[in-house]
Amino acid sequence: TSAQAQQASRFAFKPIPTATDSTVHVPDGYSWDVLIRWGDPLFSEAEGDFTHETGGSVAMSDKVFGENTDGMELFVIGGAQVIAVNHEYTNNKVNLPKAAEGMPASAEDVRKLQNLHGIAVMEVRENASGWEVVKDSSFNRRITHNTPMRIAGPAAGHDLMKTAADPTGTECLGTFNNCGSGKTPWGTYLTCEENFNGYFGAIGEMPTDEKIVAGYQRYGIEAEGRYGYEKFDARFDVSQTPNEPHRAGWIVEIDPSDASSMPVKRTALGRFKHENAACVLAPDGRVVVYMGDDERGEFLYKWLSRDVYVPGGDTSTLLDEGMLYVAKFNEDQTGTWLALTPEATDMSAAEIAIFTRTAASKVGATTMDRPEWVAVNPTTTEAYCCLTNNSRRGAKNDDGSIRTNAGGDEMTVNAVNPRETNEYGQIVRWRPAGENHASSIFEWDLYVMAGNPSLHTEGPYAGSGNVNAGNMFNSPDGMIMDSTGLMWIQTDGDDSNEGEFAGQGNNQMLVGDPVTGEIHRFLTGPVGCEVTGLCWSADRRTMFVGIQHPDAPFPDGEGTLPRSSIIAIKRDDNALLG
Ligand code: FEO
Ligand code: CA
Ligand code: CA
Ligand code: CA
Repeated sequence: TSAQAQQASRFAFKPIPTATDSTVHVPDGYSWDVLIRWGDPLFSEAEGDFTHETGGSVAMSDKVFGENTDGMELFVIGGAQVIAVNHEYTNNKVNLPKAAEGMPASAEDVRKLQNLHGIAVMEVRENASGWEVVKDSSFNRRITHNTPMRIAGPAAGHDLMKTAADPTGTECLGTFNNCGSGKTPWGTYLTCEENFNGYFGAIGEMPTDEKIVAGYQRYGIEAEGRYGYEKFDARFDVSQTPNEPHRAGWIVEIDPSDASSMPVKRTALGRFKHENAACVLAPDGRVVVYMGDDERGEFLYKWLSRDVYVPGGDTSTLLDEGMLYVAKFNEDQTGTWLALTPEATDMSAAEIAIFTRTAASKVGATTMDRPEWVAVNPTTTEAYCCLTNNSRRGAKNDDGSIRTNAGGDEMTVNAVNPRETNEYGQIVRWRPAGENHASSIFEWDLYVMAGNPSLHTEGPYAGSGNVNAGNMFNSPDGMIMDSTGLMWIQTDGDDSNEGEFAGQGNNQMLVGDPVTGEIHRFLTGPVGCEVTGLCWSADRRTMFVGIQHPDAPFPDGEGTLPRSSIIAIKRDDNALLG
């Protein structure tokens, strides 16, 4: 017990119970404060623009903190601390409080939604009254659905990337549904385009070109858009601009040190519904980027650069040349990274980039339970991926055939996705051979299978041995490892607190010890929210945590609109936080 007590002390806090209320809870000895909310100004000209009646003006919508905070990273640039953070999507009923049915009724409404998406880059500083965003800092910037971007890598200039507005196929506008994030060793921000399909629709006929149709089917581009953009902005009407969706679904590299720099879509890293981009260097200096494709039955990927990273060297094309791999998890807890080469896929390098899912299906990748964030352990050579849930795992169609992903790959129960109707999720861990993330083979195990041991006293839905009535949760999603090798797990699950989820409360953030397997609950969010995004101040005495889509008047109180927010958490004794 003393060894266990010593290990348990790595957490440095007393775990908290679940909650079902409308605010944030953290352990005794810690406190939280709001850093910034949707609608708060990044520039003084937007001061006072936000009201709970209007949700802010169109004119100022790209001068304020956007909606639905998600992945974020903190950069130390000179003496400044700069956070780059994603704005994943909009809740139209919240962001357009006057719009009927929550759908935009004008080009102005669409413009507001487009501006509340994207990325915020903002300088932050701590003073006597706490953390604040430095308004009008030269680092401050909003990137939106209309920001010019360069297209680089194997897909750049391909016919499928060309539009009437960009006959070269090398320049596009905007970044879409920016979910998780990543940080390169050379100090750039990686933002990850996830459910980009929802921004496109068709006013006229859907395209009929065979390749385009097949791609739409695999990626879910349909005649009815989720945001109504196509009705007011021809770029999003695929009956007019059929190649525009090919210009989304990428990893985008942004230089947070230069607010005038042009973001670059790095097509070498593949096109799918990107969750995050976990970067690590192989021992020889090549760059490894692990990436999940978050859809039922889609895959886990790894990219390996051709060239090595040299500190201080030219990194402007480092992410453009390399090899994309997809994971095959064997039943015996070994695994292989399968290379997506033209020979293996019978596709050109550009097509492998644009239709990565199709290439991965051709080589026999393992269908996964929705790969969300990947985290790399900085203290030992291993990585983790949250497999958030998959209600259709093992399910059958009416004719008795097994359910598949959109590419026809069966979602049969397998060792790494071991549960039918997987409502709870699991976290897989892999250790590459030779302690080298560039290696093509690995061994894997499940770090945790979430479950409900109060409801299911035995069997797979009780969860693994490190899940108990005191720490249970569902749908792990965000995951970030701190510098000490502790794993912070954020959930985006069912917070009904009933049925299969009884006793699990609101979405939350927990800490896992990779060595002991112990998991303790650190934070609970307001009802309806997802907890997503985490970074640390330069001195590691503050954690910044994202509270996305609360369904409660958080943080402003009764009678106000819910506002997605970043909170700052400190220990009352100002000790290190990871
Ligand atoms: Fe935006 Fe898969 O989470
Ligand atoms: Ca997520
Ligand atoms: Ca999720
Ligand atoms: Ca989300």
